[in-house]
Amino acid sequence: MVNDSNVVVVKNLKKYFLLKIPWLESFSLKEKPSVKAVDGLSFSIKKGEALGLVGESGSGKTTVGRSIIRLIEPTNGEIVINDEDIMSLKKEKLRKARRNFQIIFQDPIASLNPYMSIGKSVMHPLEIHDIGNRKQRKEMVLELFEKVNLIPAEGFFNRYPKQLSGGQRQRVVIARAIITNPKFIVSDEATAMLDVSVRSQVLKLMIKIKEEYNLAFLFITHDLASAKYICEKIAVMYLGKIVEIADKTELFDHPLHPYTRILMGAIPIPDPTLKREKIIPAGEIPSPTNMPSGCRFRTRCPYAKKECGDIDMSLMEIEKGHLSACPFIR
Ligand SMILES: Nc1ncnc2c1ncn2[C@@H]1O[C@H](COP(=O)(O)OP(=O)(O)OP(=O)(O)O)[C@@H](O)[C@H]1O
Ligand SMILES: [Mg+2]
Repeated sequence: MVNDSNVVVVKNLKKYFLLKIPWLESFSLKEKPSVKAVDGLSFSIKKGEALGLVGESGSGKTTVGRSIIRLIEPTNGEIVINDEDIMSLKKEKLRKARRNFQIIFQDPIASLNPYMSIGKSVMHPLEIHDIGNRKQRKEMVLELFEKVNLIPAEGFFNRYPKQLSGGQRQRVVIARAIITNPKFIVSDEATAMLDVSVRSQVLKLMIKIKEEYNLAFLFITHDLASAKYICEKIAVMYLGKIVEIADKTELFDHPLHPYTRILMGAIPIPDPTLKREKIIPAGEIPSPTNMPSGCRFRTRCPYAKKECGDIDMSLMEIEKGHLSACPFIR
């Protein structure tokens, strides 16, 4: 159940990656060249709520996910998770705070130590955060294995990652992410590498975990259909900025931003007799080191006008709770 209290509040998050240029050249430049991977993002996530972050490759989704839990250092911004000001935390306090937020990556093979049994891998965060004694830790892992459907749990405990299927490995990673009883989970394309049939099972597991632990979830994906399945709210990202954000149903029923409409055109329609407006995106995503002036989407936008070169891309509330960065479509 979505609860009114915010677990995650992010304001004006920026992450600029500085580009390496020859030392002499740097003197003649006013501003050091950078990739503005994330350029002023604000959003919040409530208890029990999943926010989907969708957008094309290179739009900055992973950089958002990693920055808000400080796996990479943000350039700027405010981040509050579980009432803690994450940006102000020094090394040891940040380490302690990490039990409250975890990340699940796309590739479970890369996330798991191949030389450690999966039981020990899942137990590891308990050791790091000094939770329980040896016997209790093992019991907690076995209980969680049951919950994520790695059954019989005892039989799985001593297995190694290579002895599991892709779906089972992702279940292990999910178990490891929730063993410290966190308040917030980032999932970065966690189901992208799985077969379609396994994908829906893992998505179902994520929903179950979210409900049971009343978790706030940031669900990063390039696949709008998965976001539709799992999330209550969806934010659409383009070149470092959110261009539209709304409740899922509202977003799918009334997409406002031209970019959202294009992304939706990429979703297969279950009923082929239904017709839908389908716009093909024109051209490539521009380089984030050389952004178009004004609206960043204008170079590919089928509705672009002359004035789009002058407008900024700030979100405006068009309907209650439905924000879009395009002033021309309502
Ligand atoms: N360490 C880095 N140094 C320089 N540029 C980076 C770095 N990491 C990411 N970028 C750039 O930041 C931009 C956003 O990258 P990011 O990985 O966040 O996108 P994404 O939306 O997750 O893409 P994908 O869907 O392919 O995973 C890209 O232009 C990328 O090249
Ligand atoms: Mg990514």
